[in-house]
Amino acid sequence: MRIKLIVFTLFTLVLAACAGSGPTAAEPPTPRPTEMPTPDPVILGREAFIRICAACHGPNAEGYANELNAPALDATEHASEHPDQQIHDWIVNGKLGLGREMPAQGENLTDEEVHAVIAYLQTLWTEEQLAVQQDITSRWPATPEPTWTPGP
Ligand code: HEC
Repeated sequence: MRIKLIVFTLFTLVLAACAGSGPTAAEPPTPRPTEMPTPDPVILGREAFIRICAACHGPNAEGYANELNAPALDATEHASEHPDQQIHDWIVNGKLGLGREMPAQGENLTDEEVHAVIAYLQTLWTEEQLAVQQDITSRWPATPEPTWTPGP
């Protein structure tokens, strides 16, 4: 009787040990790590636009929000005639125009925000404007190096 009990106990222990190190298929599935949602660049860009650009370009990029006479960046003027690279450069380094000037904004924005602002501006253009703008962006620069040099 006692022997039977010991054998039974041992058998149960062995079973338990086997179950513990059993085949992986029997294990409960590991929960997948919660994925961080990818931030929408357009939303990020809109936020950055409101924070930095709206003071001059207006809350909806309609332009002329102050005495600096910043142009509209929506579909009504010609921001969309410029490739992404040029717009990126102007945002970071500023832009000298005829009788007006945009101060550099590079210190106020991360590079991700600059790209996001451009993505936001692209949502303001017509489909046709965007298609043309994407085309010039893909072919930029038209010439690899500037050919102009100052005269003697
Ligand atoms: C302090 C005022 C000011 C701020 C802030 C400002 N801009 Fe400007 N921006 C201007 C002015 C003025 C011009 C016109 C320069 C010129 O005549 O070439 C301009 C021109 C531009 C142009 C060229 C438009 C065209 O049709 O040629 C783009 C694109 C632009 N700004 C984007 C931005 C973005 C994006 C931001 C925010 C990250 C921004 N600007 C912030 C004043 C500003």
